[in-house]
Amino acid sequence: MGTSPENLLTVIDVGSSKTCVLVGESVDGALRYRGHGIADSRGTRKGAIVDLEKATASIHRAVEEAEKVAGATVDHAVVTVGGPLIRGLNSRGGLNLGSRPREITREDVRQASERARSVVLPVDREMMHLLPQEYIVDQQSSIRDPLGMVGTKLEVSVHIVTAGKSSTQNVVTAANRAGIQVDDTIFEGLASAECTLKPDERELGVCLLDIGAGSTDLIVYFEGAVAHTGVVPIGGDHFTNDVAVGLRTPLIEAEKIKRLFGNAVVTNVPEGNEIEVPAVGERPSRLMPQRLLSEILEPRARELFEYVRDNLRQGGVLEALGAGTVLTGGAARLAGLGAIAESVLRCPPRIGRPVAIAKMPAALAEPEFATAVGSLMYLNRSRVARTGPGQMGLKEKIKSLFQSA
Ligand SMILES: Nc1ncnc2c1ncn2[C@@H]1O[C@H](COP(=O)(O)OP(=O)(O)OP(=O)(O)O)[C@@H](O)[C@H]1O
Ligand SMILES: [Mg+2]
Repeated sequence: MGTSPENLLTVIDVGSSKTCVLVGESVDGALRYRGHGIADSRGTRKGAIVDLEKATASIHRAVEEAEKVAGATVDHAVVTVGGPLIRGLNSRGGLNLGSRPREITREDVRQASERARSVVLPVDREMMHLLPQEYIVDQQSSIRDPLGMVGTKLEVSVHIVTAGKSSTQNVVTAANRAGIQVDDTIFEGLASAECTLKPDERELGVCLLDIGAGSTDLIVYFEGAVAHTGVVPIGGDHFTNDVAVGLRTPLIEAEKIKRLFGNAVVTNVPEGNEIEVPAVGERPSRLMPQRLLSEILEPRARELFEYVRDNLRQGGVLEALGAGTVLTGGAARLAGLGAIAESVLRCPPRIGRPVAIAKMPAALAEPEFATAVGSLMYLNRSRVARTGPGQMGLKEKIKSLFQSA
Protein backbone atom coordinates (compact mmCIF):
# COMPACT_ATOMS: atom_id res chain seq x y z
CA MET A 1 0.00 0.00 0.00
CA GLY A 2 2.89 2.29 0.71
CA THR A 3 0.91 5.29 1.98
CA SER A 4 1.08 6.46 5.55
CA PRO A 5 -2.49 6.81 6.87
CA GLU A 6 -2.13 10.53 7.65
CA ASN A 7 -1.78 11.19 3.91
CA LEU A 8 -5.16 9.62 3.27
CA LEU A 9 -8.23 11.84 3.27
CA THR A 10 -11.73 10.37 3.27
CA VAL A 11 -15.14 11.95 2.87
CA ILE A 12 -18.55 10.36 3.27
CA ASP A 13 -21.51 11.96 1.51
CA VAL A 14 -24.68 10.46 2.94
CA GLY A 15 -27.27 11.60 0.43
CA SER A 16 -30.97 10.80 0.38
CA SER A 17 -30.49 8.46 -2.57
CA LYS A 18 -26.84 7.38 -2.53
CA THR A 19 -24.02 7.14 -0.01
CA CYS A 20 -20.67 7.94 -1.55
CA VAL A 21 -17.30 7.40 0.09
CA LEU A 22 -14.31 9.02 -1.60
CA VAL A 23 -10.69 8.44 -0.60
CA GLY A 24 -7.86 10.69 -1.70
CA GLU A 25 -4.20 11.00 -0.98
CA SER A 26 -2.52 14.29 -0.23
CA VAL A 27 1.13 14.44 -1.21
CA ASP A 28 2.83 17.75 -0.42
CA GLY A 29 -0.57 19.42 -0.61
CA ALA A 30 -1.45 17.94 -4.02
CA LEU A 31 -4.56 15.77 -4.07
CA ARG A 32 -4.78 12.42 -5.84
CA TYR A 33 -7.72 10.02 -6.15
CA ARG A 34 -7.29 6.67 -4.37
CA GLY A 35 -10.71 5.04 -4.42
CA HIS A 36 -14.43 5.38 -4.00
CA GLY A 37 -17.48 3.32 -3.13
CA ILE A 38 -21.16 3.94 -3.70
CA ALA A 39 -24.15 2.32 -2.02
CA ASP A 40 -27.87 3.02 -2.22
CA SER A 41 -28.84 5.10 0.81
CA ARG A 42 -31.22 3.26 3.07
CA GLY A 43 -32.80 4.67 6.21
CA THR A 44 -32.80 8.26 4.94
CA ARG A 45 -35.83 10.35 4.16
CA LYS A 46 -36.12 13.95 2.99
CA GLY A 47 -32.42 14.53 3.61
CA ALA A 48 -32.41 13.16 7.16
CA ILE A 49 -31.52 9.81 8.69
CA VAL A 50 -34.65 8.09 9.96
CA ASP A 51 -33.27 4.55 10.49
CA LEU A 52 -29.79 4.43 12.00
CA GLU A 53 -29.24 0.75 11.42
CA LYS A 54 -30.00 0.95 7.71
CA ALA A 55 -27.98 4.14 7.25
CA THR A 56 -25.04 2.50 9.04
CA ALA A 57 -25.25 -0.51 6.72
CA SER A 58 -25.18 1.77 3.63
CA ILE A 59 -22.10 3.60 4.92
CA HIS A 60 -20.48 0.27 5.72
CA ARG A 61 -21.02 -1.05 2.20
CA ALA A 62 -19.70 2.11 0.55
CA VAL A 63 -16.66 2.19 2.86
CA GLU A 64 -15.82 -1.45 2.13
CA GLU A 65 -15.93 -0.83 -1.61
CA ALA A 66 -13.80 2.30 -1.32
CA GLU A 67 -11.25 0.47 0.84
CA LYS A 68 -10.95 -2.26 -1.75
CA VAL A 69 -10.26 0.20 -4.55
CA ALA A 70 -7.92 2.34 -2.43
CA GLY A 71 -6.06 -0.67 -1.08
CA ALA A 72 -6.10 0.95 2.35
CA THR A 73 -8.11 0.94 5.55
CA VAL A 74 -10.44 3.83 6.23
CA ASP A 75 -11.06 4.59 9.90
CA HIS A 76 -11.73 8.32 9.99
CA ALA A 77 -13.50 10.73 7.67
CA VAL A 78 -15.26 14.02 7.17
CA VAL A 79 -19.00 13.68 6.64
CA THR A 80 -21.37 15.95 4.73
CA VAL A 81 -24.51 17.52 6.15
CA GLY A 82 -27.33 19.09 4.13
CA GLY A 83 -31.10 19.09 4.04
CA PRO A 84 -33.89 21.13 5.57
CA LEU A 85 -32.22 21.78 8.95
CA ILE A 86 -29.46 23.95 7.46
CA ARG A 87 -29.67 27.71 8.05
CA GLY A 88 -27.34 30.55 7.15
CA LEU A 89 -26.97 33.95 8.83
CA ASN A 90 -24.69 36.95 8.60
CA SER A 91 -22.95 38.46 11.61
CA ARG A 92 -20.34 41.07 12.46
CA GLY A 93 -17.73 41.43 15.17
CA GLY A 94 -15.36 44.25 16.07
CA LEU A 95 -12.28 44.96 18.13
CA ASN A 96 -10.73 48.24 19.30
CA LEU A 97 -6.98 48.16 18.74
CA GLY A 98 -6.21 51.18 20.96
CA SER A 99 -6.17 54.96 20.58
CA ARG A 100 -3.00 54.97 18.44
CA PRO A 101 -2.99 53.06 15.14
CA ARG A 102 -1.07 49.79 15.31
CA GLU A 103 -0.35 46.76 13.16
CA ILE A 104 -3.05 44.07 13.05
CA THR A 105 -1.91 40.65 14.27
CA ARG A 106 -3.22 37.12 13.76
CA GLU A 107 -4.55 37.23 17.34
CA ASP A 108 -6.58 40.40 16.57
CA VAL A 109 -8.15 38.66 13.58
CA ARG A 110 -8.95 35.64 15.75
CA GLN A 111 -10.56 37.81 18.45
CA ALA A 112 -12.66 39.79 15.95
CA SER A 113 -13.91 36.50 14.43
CA GLU A 114 -14.62 35.17 17.92
CA ARG A 115 -16.88 38.19 18.56
CA ALA A 116 -18.60 37.74 15.20
CA ARG A 117 -19.40 34.14 16.09
CA SER A 118 -20.88 34.92 19.49
CA VAL A 119 -24.47 34.89 18.25
CA VAL A 120 -27.08 33.17 20.34
CA LEU A 121 -28.34 30.03 18.65
CA PRO A 122 -31.41 28.02 19.63
CA VAL A 123 -30.46 25.02 21.79
CA ASP A 124 -31.16 22.57 18.99
CA ARG A 125 -28.71 24.23 16.52
CA GLU A 126 -24.97 24.20 16.15
CA MET A 127 -22.46 26.14 14.13
CA MET A 128 -20.87 24.32 11.20
CA HIS A 129 -18.92 27.03 9.36
CA LEU A 130 -17.74 30.54 10.08
CA LEU A 131 -16.91 32.06 6.68
CA PRO A 132 -15.28 35.53 6.65
CA GLN A 133 -16.81 37.92 4.08
CA GLU A 134 -14.79 41.08 4.52
CA TYR A 135 -12.69 42.93 7.07
CA ILE A 136 -13.15 46.59 7.85
CA VAL A 137 -10.21 48.60 9.20
CA ASP A 138 -11.13 52.11 10.45
CA GLN A 139 -14.14 52.45 8.09
CA GLN A 140 -12.26 51.05 5.10
CA SER A 141 -14.29 48.06 3.93
CA SER A 142 -13.80 45.20 1.43
CA ILE A 143 -10.46 44.11 2.91
CA ARG A 144 -9.72 40.44 2.26
CA ASP A 145 -6.70 40.05 4.54
CA PRO A 146 -6.07 42.66 7.24
CA LEU A 147 -2.86 41.05 8.59
CA GLY A 148 -0.10 43.63 8.83
CA MET A 149 -2.39 46.58 8.08
CA VAL A 150 -2.45 49.49 10.51
CA GLY A 151 -5.52 50.88 12.27
CA THR A 152 -7.39 51.57 15.52
CA LYS A 153 -10.42 49.39 14.89
CA LEU A 154 -10.84 46.01 13.20
CA GLU A 155 -14.22 44.63 12.22
CA VAL A 156 -15.14 41.45 10.38
CA SER A 157 -18.38 40.38 8.76
CA VAL A 158 -18.96 36.65 8.50
CA HIS A 159 -21.45 34.19 7.14
CA ILE A 160 -22.37 31.46 9.61
CA VAL A 161 -23.80 28.10 8.52
CA THR A 162 -25.72 26.30 11.23
CA ALA A 163 -27.25 22.82 11.29
CA GLY A 164 -29.85 21.08 13.41
CA LYS A 165 -27.97 19.17 16.10
CA SER A 166 -30.04 16.07 15.52
CA SER A 167 -29.26 15.85 11.80
CA THR A 168 -25.52 16.20 12.42
CA GLN A 169 -25.57 13.82 15.37
CA ASN A 170 -27.42 11.12 13.44
CA VAL A 171 -25.01 11.08 10.53
CA VAL A 172 -22.03 11.07 12.93
CA THR A 173 -23.53 8.21 14.92
CA ALA A 174 -24.24 6.20 11.76
CA ALA A 175 -20.63 6.68 10.63
CA ASN A 176 -19.31 5.76 14.09
CA ARG A 177 -21.36 2.58 14.07
CA ALA A 178 -19.87 1.75 10.68
CA GLY A 179 -16.46 1.95 12.38
CA ILE A 180 -15.54 5.46 11.20
CA GLN A 181 -14.37 8.23 13.47
CA VAL A 182 -15.75 11.57 12.25
CA ASP A 183 -13.15 14.36 12.18
CA ASP A 184 -15.45 17.11 10.97
CA THR A 185 -18.65 17.95 9.09
CA ILE A 186 -19.09 20.05 5.97
CA PHE A 187 -22.19 21.68 4.50
CA GLU A 188 -23.06 19.95 1.22
CA GLY A 189 -23.63 23.21 -0.68
CA LEU A 190 -20.24 24.55 0.34
CA ALA A 191 -18.61 21.30 -0.75
CA SER A 192 -20.29 21.30 -4.17
CA ALA A 193 -19.26 24.92 -4.69
CA GLU A 194 -15.62 24.07 -3.97
CA CYS A 195 -15.20 21.93 -7.08
CA THR A 196 -17.58 23.60 -9.53
CA LEU A 197 -17.48 27.40 -9.17
CA LYS A 198 -14.88 29.52 -10.89
CA PRO A 199 -13.21 32.47 -9.15
CA ASP A 200 -14.75 35.03 -11.52
CA GLU A 201 -18.23 33.62 -10.88
CA ARG A 202 -17.68 34.01 -7.14
CA GLU A 203 -16.65 37.62 -7.70
CA LEU A 204 -19.53 38.58 -9.98
CA GLY A 205 -22.17 36.80 -7.92
CA VAL A 206 -23.39 33.25 -8.43
CA CYS A 207 -25.87 30.86 -6.87
CA LEU A 208 -24.98 27.19 -6.71
CA LEU A 209 -27.99 24.88 -6.45
CA ASP A 210 -27.29 21.29 -5.45
CA ILE A 211 -30.51 19.57 -6.48
CA GLY A 212 -30.32 16.19 -4.78
CA ALA A 213 -32.95 13.55 -4.20
CA GLY A 214 -34.54 14.95 -1.04
CA SER A 215 -33.80 18.67 -1.11
CA THR A 216 -31.93 21.48 -2.83
CA ASP A 217 -29.03 23.08 -0.99
CA LEU A 218 -28.12 26.58 -2.11
CA ILE A 219 -25.14 28.82 -1.60
CA VAL A 220 -24.51 32.30 -2.99
CA TYR A 221 -21.11 33.92 -3.50
CA PHE A 222 -20.70 37.62 -4.08
CA GLU A 223 -17.46 39.60 -4.28
CA GLY A 224 -15.55 36.40 -3.63
CA ALA A 225 -17.24 35.47 -0.35
CA VAL A 226 -20.25 33.45 0.79
CA ALA A 227 -23.18 35.85 1.06
CA HIS A 228 -26.05 33.44 1.70
CA THR A 229 -26.84 29.77 2.27
CA GLY A 230 -30.15 27.96 2.47
CA VAL A 231 -32.13 24.87 1.62
CA VAL A 232 -35.44 24.36 -0.11
CA PRO A 233 -37.34 21.17 0.60
CA ILE A 234 -37.71 19.91 -2.98
CA GLY A 235 -35.43 17.45 -4.77
CA GLY A 236 -35.51 14.92 -7.61
CA ASP A 237 -37.58 12.41 -5.64
CA HIS A 238 -40.50 14.87 -5.58
CA PHE A 239 -40.43 14.82 -9.40
CA THR A 240 -40.41 11.00 -9.37
CA ASN A 241 -43.33 10.86 -6.93
CA ASP A 242 -45.36 13.21 -9.10
CA VAL A 243 -44.68 11.02 -12.14
CA ALA A 244 -45.68 7.86 -10.25
CA VAL A 245 -48.96 9.42 -9.12
CA GLY A 246 -49.69 11.26 -12.37
CA LEU A 247 -49.01 8.31 -14.69
CA ARG A 248 -50.18 5.69 -12.18
CA THR A 249 -47.00 3.67 -12.39
CA PRO A 250 -44.72 2.15 -9.68
CA LEU A 251 -42.02 4.46 -8.27
CA ILE A 252 -39.21 2.43 -9.77
CA GLU A 253 -40.75 2.75 -13.25
CA ALA A 254 -41.48 6.44 -12.69
CA GLU A 255 -37.78 6.99 -11.94
CA LYS A 256 -36.76 5.21 -15.18
CA ILE A 257 -39.32 7.08 -17.26
CA LYS A 258 -38.29 10.44 -15.77
CA ARG A 259 -34.62 9.84 -16.61
CA LEU A 260 -35.24 8.44 -20.09
CA PHE A 261 -38.08 10.60 -21.41
CA GLY A 262 -38.42 13.46 -18.93
CA ASN A 263 -38.19 17.08 -20.03
CA ALA A 264 -39.04 20.02 -17.79
CA VAL A 265 -40.30 22.08 -20.74
CA VAL A 266 -43.60 20.87 -22.23
CA THR A 267 -43.05 22.61 -25.56
CA ASN A 268 -39.66 20.86 -25.98
CA VAL A 269 -41.51 17.56 -26.55
CA PRO A 270 -42.92 17.01 -30.05
CA GLU A 271 -46.68 16.53 -30.05
CA GLY A 272 -47.57 12.97 -30.99
CA ASN A 273 -44.58 11.33 -29.21
CA GLU A 274 -45.70 8.36 -27.16
CA ILE A 275 -44.06 6.44 -24.33
CA GLU A 276 -44.83 3.04 -22.84
CA VAL A 277 -45.84 3.28 -19.19
CA PRO A 278 -46.00 0.11 -17.03
CA ALA A 279 -49.12 -0.07 -14.87
CA VAL A 280 -49.43 -0.84 -11.17
CA GLY A 281 -50.28 -4.48 -10.33
CA GLU A 282 -51.03 -7.00 -13.02
CA ARG A 283 -52.54 -4.59 -15.53
CA PRO A 284 -50.89 -4.29 -18.95
CA SER A 285 -48.69 -1.30 -19.74
CA ARG A 286 -50.16 1.63 -21.70
CA LEU A 287 -49.01 4.08 -24.34
CA MET A 288 -49.19 7.69 -23.19
CA PRO A 289 -48.24 11.02 -24.75
CA GLN A 290 -44.70 12.05 -23.76
CA ARG A 291 -46.05 15.57 -23.29
CA LEU A 292 -48.17 14.33 -20.41
CA LEU A 293 -44.94 13.47 -18.59
CA SER A 294 -43.64 17.01 -19.13
CA GLU A 295 -46.96 18.46 -18.00
CA ILE A 296 -46.23 16.76 -14.67
CA LEU A 297 -42.56 17.77 -14.50
CA GLU A 298 -42.77 21.41 -15.58
CA PRO A 299 -44.99 22.69 -12.71
CA ARG A 300 -42.75 20.93 -10.17
CA ALA A 301 -39.63 22.48 -11.74
CA ARG A 302 -41.27 25.93 -11.62
CA GLU A 303 -42.25 25.38 -8.00
CA LEU A 304 -38.66 24.40 -7.12
CA PHE A 305 -37.18 27.57 -8.62
CA GLU A 306 -39.96 29.74 -7.16
CA TYR A 307 -38.98 28.44 -3.72
CA VAL A 308 -35.35 29.21 -4.59
CA ARG A 309 -36.30 32.71 -5.77
CA ASP A 310 -38.19 33.40 -2.50
CA ASN A 311 -35.25 32.13 -0.47
CA LEU A 312 -32.80 34.33 -2.38
CA ARG A 313 -35.10 37.33 -2.08
CA GLN A 314 -35.39 36.83 1.69
CA GLY A 315 -31.60 36.62 1.86
CA GLY A 316 -31.33 39.88 -0.08
CA VAL A 317 -29.20 38.29 -2.82
CA LEU A 318 -31.66 37.79 -5.69
CA GLU A 319 -30.23 40.76 -7.56
CA ALA A 320 -26.62 39.75 -6.88
CA LEU A 321 -26.30 36.90 -9.40
CA GLY A 322 -24.27 38.55 -12.13
CA ALA A 323 -22.78 35.18 -13.14
CA GLY A 324 -26.10 33.32 -12.96
CA THR A 325 -26.73 29.91 -11.43
CA VAL A 326 -24.78 26.64 -11.39
CA LEU A 327 -26.83 23.46 -11.06
CA THR A 328 -25.35 20.32 -9.49
CA GLY A 329 -26.83 17.19 -7.90
CA GLY A 330 -28.35 14.27 -9.80
CA ALA A 331 -31.64 16.06 -10.41
CA ALA A 332 -29.80 18.79 -12.34
CA ARG A 333 -29.59 16.23 -15.16
CA LEU A 334 -33.28 16.51 -15.97
CA ALA A 335 -33.52 17.81 -19.55
CA GLY A 336 -34.96 21.30 -19.81
CA LEU A 337 -34.42 22.13 -16.12
CA GLY A 338 -31.96 24.91 -16.93
CA ALA A 339 -34.54 26.64 -19.12
CA ILE A 340 -37.03 26.71 -16.25
CA ALA A 341 -34.33 27.97 -13.85
CA GLU A 342 -33.62 30.79 -16.28
CA SER A 343 -37.26 31.72 -16.81
CA VAL A 344 -37.98 31.89 -13.05
CA LEU A 345 -34.70 33.33 -11.75
CA ARG A 346 -33.99 35.50 -14.80
CA CYS A 347 -30.30 34.72 -15.04
CA PRO A 348 -28.28 32.20 -17.08
CA PRO A 349 -27.76 28.67 -15.70
CA ARG A 350 -25.05 26.09 -16.33
CA ILE A 351 -24.58 22.50 -15.16
CA GLY A 352 -21.78 22.16 -12.58
CA ARG A 353 -19.52 19.15 -13.03
CA PRO A 354 -16.70 18.64 -10.51
CA VAL A 355 -13.22 19.45 -11.78
CA ALA A 356 -11.19 16.27 -11.93
CA ILE A 357 -8.62 15.55 -9.27
CA ALA A 358 -5.57 13.57 -10.39
CA LYS A 359 -6.34 9.94 -11.35
CA MET A 360 -10.08 10.40 -10.71
CA PRO A 361 -12.29 8.12 -12.86
CA ALA A 362 -14.39 10.03 -15.42
CA ALA A 363 -17.57 8.57 -13.89
CA LEU A 364 -17.13 10.88 -10.90
CA ALA A 365 -17.05 14.03 -13.03
CA GLU A 366 -20.85 14.22 -12.94
CA PRO A 367 -23.12 16.67 -11.10
CA GLU A 368 -24.22 14.15 -8.43
CA PHE A 369 -20.62 13.72 -7.25
CA ALA A 370 -19.92 17.42 -6.77
CA THR A 371 -20.52 17.15 -3.02
CA ALA A 372 -18.11 14.24 -2.50
CA VAL A 373 -15.35 15.57 -4.80
CA GLY A 374 -15.74 19.10 -3.43
CA SER A 375 -15.57 17.89 0.19
CA LEU A 376 -12.30 16.15 -0.53
CA MET A 377 -10.85 19.27 -2.15
CA TYR A 378 -12.10 21.44 0.72
CA LEU A 379 -10.57 19.08 3.25
CA ASN A 380 -7.24 19.10 1.45
CA ARG A 381 -7.25 22.88 1.14
CA SER A 382 -8.00 23.41 4.84
CA ARG A 383 -5.19 21.02 5.68
CA VAL A 384 -2.75 22.95 3.54
CA ALA A 385 -3.95 26.20 5.13
CA ARG A 386 -3.45 24.73 8.62
CA THR A 387 0.02 23.41 7.85
CA GLY A 388 0.82 26.97 6.75
CA PRO A 389 2.63 27.84 3.58
CA GLY A 390 5.61 28.95 5.70
CA GLN A 391 6.30 25.35 6.54
CA MET A 392 6.10 24.21 2.94
CA GLY A 393 8.84 24.10 0.38
CA LEU A 394 8.49 25.98 -2.92
CA LYS A 395 7.35 22.82 -4.73
CA GLU A 396 4.55 22.24 -2.22
CA LYS A 397 3.54 25.92 -2.29
CA ILE A 398 3.12 25.85 -6.06
CA LYS A 399 1.16 22.60 -5.92
CA SER A 400 -1.15 23.91 -3.21
CA LEU A 401 -1.81 27.08 -5.21
CA PHE A 402 -3.11 24.99 -8.07
CA GLN A 403 -5.23 22.97 -5.63
CA SER A 404 -7.04 26.01 -4.29
CA ALA A 405 -8.06 27.46 -7.67
N1 LIG B 1 -30.98 11.75 -15.78
C1 LIG B 1 -31.71 12.20 -14.73
N2 LIG B 1 -32.81 12.95 -14.97
C2 LIG B 1 -33.55 13.40 -13.94
N3 LIG B 1 -33.28 13.18 -12.64
C3 LIG B 1 -32.20 12.42 -12.36
C4 LIG B 1 -31.34 11.91 -13.38
N4 LIG B 1 -30.34 11.22 -12.79
C5 LIG B 1 -30.55 11.30 -11.46
N5 LIG B 1 -31.65 12.02 -11.19
C6 LIG B 1 -32.24 12.33 -9.87
O1 LIG B 1 -31.25 12.82 -9.01
C7 LIG B 1 -31.58 12.50 -7.66
C8 LIG B 1 -30.33 11.96 -6.96
O2 LIG B 1 -29.37 12.98 -6.96
P1 LIG B 1 -28.14 12.95 -5.96
O3 LIG B 1 -27.37 11.69 -6.13
O4 LIG B 1 -27.42 14.22 -6.12
O5 LIG B 1 -28.93 12.92 -4.55
P2 LIG B 1 -28.37 12.69 -3.08
O6 LIG B 1 -27.08 13.36 -2.93
O7 LIG B 1 -28.42 11.24 -2.75
O8 LIG B 1 -29.54 13.42 -2.24
P3 LIG B 1 -29.51 14.71 -1.27
O9 LIG B 1 -28.35 15.55 -1.65
O10 LIG B 1 -30.84 15.39 -1.52
O11 LIG B 1 -29.45 14.15 0.11
C9 LIG B 1 -32.69 11.49 -7.70
O12 LIG B 1 -33.91 12.09 -7.30
C10 LIG B 1 -32.77 11.08 -9.20
O13 LIG B 1 -34.08 10.81 -9.61
MG1 LIG C 1 -26.41 15.26 -2.30
